[in-house]
Amino acid sequence: MKICVLPGDGIGKEIVAQGLRVLEAIGEKFDCTFETTEALIGGCAIDAEGVPLPAETVAKCKDADAVLLGAVGGPKWDTIDPSIRPEKGLLGIRKELGLFANLRPAVLFKELADACFLRPDIVARGLDVMVVRELTGGIYFGEPRFDGEKDGERFGYNTMTYYEHEIRRIARIAFEAARKRSGRVCSVDKANVLDVSRVWREIVIDEHKNYPDVELEHMYVDNAAMQLVRDPSQFDVVVTGNLFGDILSDEAAAITGSIGMLPSASVGDSNPGLFEPIHGSAPDIAGQDKANPLATILSIAMMLRHSFDMADAADCIEKAVAKTLEQGYRTGDIAQEGGKVIGCVAMGDAVLGNL
Ligand code: NAD
Ligand code: IPM
Ligand code: MN
Repeated sequence: MKICVLPGDGIGKEIVAQGLRVLEAIGEKFDCTFETTEALIGGCAIDAEGVPLPAETVAKCKDADAVLLGAVGGPKWDTIDPSIRPEKGLLGIRKELGLFANLRPAVLFKELADACFLRPDIVARGLDVMVVRELTGGIYFGEPRFDGEKDGERFGYNTMTYYEHEIRRIARIAFEAARKRSGRVCSVDKANVLDVSRVWREIVIDEHKNYPDVELEHMYVDNAAMQLVRDPSQFDVVVTGNLFGDILSDEAAAITGSIGMLPSASVGDSNPGLFEPIHGSAPDIAGQDKANPLATILSIAMMLRHSFDMADAADCIEKAVAKTLEQGYRTGDIAQEGGKVIGCVAMGDAVLGNL
């Protein structure tokens, strides 16, 4: 099993290092070999090669069975030419690998109920939402786009576009996911204002005809953002476009205690899947051994389940994480009032101990 590892920038390197320790332990425990190769993406690739996504990185990813990514970006590259920003590297690899579906499971570990800022009675209802975010279309990639001047002043725009086939394939992923869960899909759009959202809703409704066993509802994105914090237990699978999914999944992550807890899997039709925490390079804590590596470790569990058909190994990692939290180990982002805080490496140690 070949894995291309893209640590990236900021805390990316720190969290990926802990993830790889866990992967190695899984290899020993399950008697299998993971062959890893590293490549550059984001700011570090700009520094070394002048571009955020070198051709060699794309080739190495395509040659692998799965890709593990840390995070990209940071203040150092915030003022460079926007066409080569670190984030372009991440958008580029998603596009190159055809990873149109991004699965972001927001689960509140019961051991972390104290880190959740919602009322205890709301927390008690449970939080287990799967955000299915469209990843290679929408306003992120729509043409035309413009950053310049018009009528003597600065002027810019982007275009939110969706073809029917892009909507159908992401809707299918959501309905299939719902079948393995509680059988409910909420499609989130802005169909009361946006033309593109009206097309989205119409096609989701049409595709739903093939999944009569799944319950489908629709919600406007502003209401969805509100409902997610008011009563997250009403949601099972949430399917939405690229930008809305980006925003709603960070919101969902906060409800699970911290953005440092939420893993993700990006998948397409044939190329290797890409697995990454949903958070960024966290420049404010980078290089200080403060990052929470659990989202990355849980992303490895997703990799084992989705790319390598190793559900037992994935369960094993998830149980080790739950046990670690139960034992009270906390990085700063999920710390209890007055509780003991450990670093990124020590959290890796604790999970390894429990594996
Ligand atoms: P961020 O997710 O990096 O950080 C937001 C906040 O969450 C910060 O306070 C940070 O310290 C905290 N945080 C994030 N991950 C954490 C972890 N594992 N453990 C503990 N705390 C954690 O978002 P941002 O500050 O908006 O963006 C910083 C940079 O990261 C930007 O350049 C942005 O473009 C990039 N970014 C990259 C990705 C990615 O690579 N997938 C995702 C989001 C943002
Ligand atoms: C994410 C990030 C990326 C996105 C950025 C860094 C391009 O926020 O993975 O959620 O917007 O998709
Ligand atoms: Mn994001």
